[in-house]
Amino acid sequence: MKSDKIITIDGPAGSGKSTLALNLAQAFGWVCLDTGALYRAVALVALERGLTPSDRQEAAELARTLDLRLYVEEGKTLVVAGDREVSSLIRTPEISNFASLFSALPEVREALVDAQRNLGSRGEVVAEGRDMGTVIFPWAALKFFLTAEAKVRAYRRHLQLAREGIVAELEKLEEDILIRDHNDSSRETAQLKPAPDAFIIDGTNLSAFEVETIMIGEAKRVFGL
Ligand code: DC
Repeated sequence: MKSDKIITIDGPAGSGKSTLALNLAQAFGWVCLDTGALYRAVALVALERGLTPSDRQEAAELARTLDLRLYVEEGKTLVVAGDREVSSLIRTPEISNFASLFSALPEVREALVDAQRNLGSRGEVVAEGRDMGTVIFPWAALKFFLTAEAKVRAYRRHLQLAREGIVAELEKLEEDILIRDHNDSSRETAQLKPAPDAFIIDGTNLSAFEVETIMIGEAKRVFGL
């Protein structure tokens, strides 16, 4: 039986989903499922194998067969693809752009559906991505859609990358975010949009702590935690 003890957090790039999903999962002792990391790992290996987004079938085959595992260690999601730890390699701006292109392919998305549902099958999961509440876990008992203005998201991403030792120009990050917003919202399937029953939060003028407080309050109300 599938569990509805799932919190989904969807929203555009840089809205703070990853941090909030990790914090919520930690607060409740639940599992954090960063599905963007799966798409990023597929994009990384696809690029290494010389694939482009027009190699749809090859990319889908890769997504179906690549052994992907996620671990949370010291408050960070670690990603293992095959026998390689790729956590840092998948976070570069180049991979962000390619992940957006590869994730727009319906064949690649389809190939990752089961893997994502299997990871969430036991419940007690905080799943974050673009289509968690609409496609992957439509039965989740609590769904959030977190957004913020592109300028604010670019600035936050800039700070996050700087903390990881990656230097990225602010204007270029905002430009990339706008392109990814466009790709994620206009692709053939699983467009970025809130589920009809999602709780929408605009975090433009809220701190991460304020958003987290709202989310924890809702989770306590819905799940009686
Ligand atoms: O959340 P992120 O930036 O790590 O995601 C990387 C890319 O993967 C992003 O362009 C959108 C895509 N993605 C997706 O299409 N569906 C998901 N559930 C998660 C991410």
